[in-house]
Amino acid sequence: MSDVTTMAAALEAASVRRAFGSVQAVVNASLSVQPGSVTALIGPNGCGKTTLMLMLAGLLRPDGGEVRVGGISPGASPKAARTAVGWMPDVLGTWESLTCRETLATFARAYGLTPADADARAFSLLERVHLADLAEQPARVLSRGQKQRLSLARALVNDPPVLILDEPASGLDPRSRVELRDLVRQLGVEGKAVLVSSHVLAELDEMVDDAVFMSKGVTLGEAADAEVARARTRWRLVAVEGDLAGALARASRDFTVEQVPLGSAAVVSVADDADAAALVAVLVGDGIKVARIAPVGSALEQAYLTMETERR
Ligand SMILES: Nc1ncnc2c1ncn2[C@@H]1O[C@H](COP(=O)(O)OP(=O)(O)O)[C@@H](O)[C@H]1O
Ligand SMILES: [Mg+2]
Repeated sequence: MSDVTTMAAALEAASVRRAFGSVQAVVNASLSVQPGSVTALIGPNGCGKTTLMLMLAGLLRPDGGEVRVGGISPGASPKAARTAVGWMPDVLGTWESLTCRETLATFARAYGLTPADADARAFSLLERVHLADLAEQPARVLSRGQKQRLSLARALVNDPPVLILDEPASGLDPRSRVELRDLVRQLGVEGKAVLVSSHVLAELDEMVDDAVFMSKGVTLGEAADAEVARARTRWRLVAVEGDLAGALARASRDFTVEQVPLGSAAVVSVADDADAAALVAVLVGDGIKVARIAPVGSALEQAYLTMETERR
């Protein structure tokens, strides 16, 4: 994960903490997000995700620790840091009577664009998030998925290199989630550093390159990274015919077979698609009719559950 220490992280937190009165919302949080990557911030409700993100976005002052956005400390240079980051809150506070175009144009004006440029920017962003058809509709008529996309467009108004998205997939139907996933992935491809939070792990599994787990105000470091990497290698294999146990025993010279096969199914460790294909070829050559091979469940979910068990 962040073993590329020589590369400048676009977004960084080091031993950050923050209390609200007697509630220690963030106890000790560290993370870094590289340009061109999407990182998940995952943890149960109340573990401190929003508080940490507000500090990263320069909207809340940490009690201690360091935050850097594009190398800038929000504490020292709030204005410069603010222009480097796009913030998407968990609930979009729009003026419900404004149209989608007006909402975005208003924010663009706030970043100093002329009225004409602000309108042009609003239209191009609406195109980008597939809301162009609804440009002149008031925000209140939007569905949850459409509101989330408008909110994402708003976070992009100043074309920031860093994006912080708080629970963007929450409450979305499957189609909206796929659309959001594609948009977020595209932002990563374009070189943005994206941090995206969720308490529902499976929501983010296909959206992210990396994951930071958080529990009770603490980010879980390398142990979690290793766990995610390990979880990603577990695949379930189902055969409809042949002696799967015997074939896997023979294949185990070249492949790690993690679990004893259960009749016609087995869980195997394969590193990637190529490895999986190679194993299937070996098994088929050995007379096994392989019906299916796929990663076991959600890799992030598995890693998370493993860690939660360990922390108990
Ligand atoms: N403004 C606030 N005042 C008091 N307590 C807060 C405030 N914001 C968050 N908290 C508390 O801090 C903890 C972490 O909250 P939050 O960062 O919202 O977690 P998450 O986003 O992971 O659900 C919770 O116990 C929450 O009640
Ligand atoms: Mg939250």
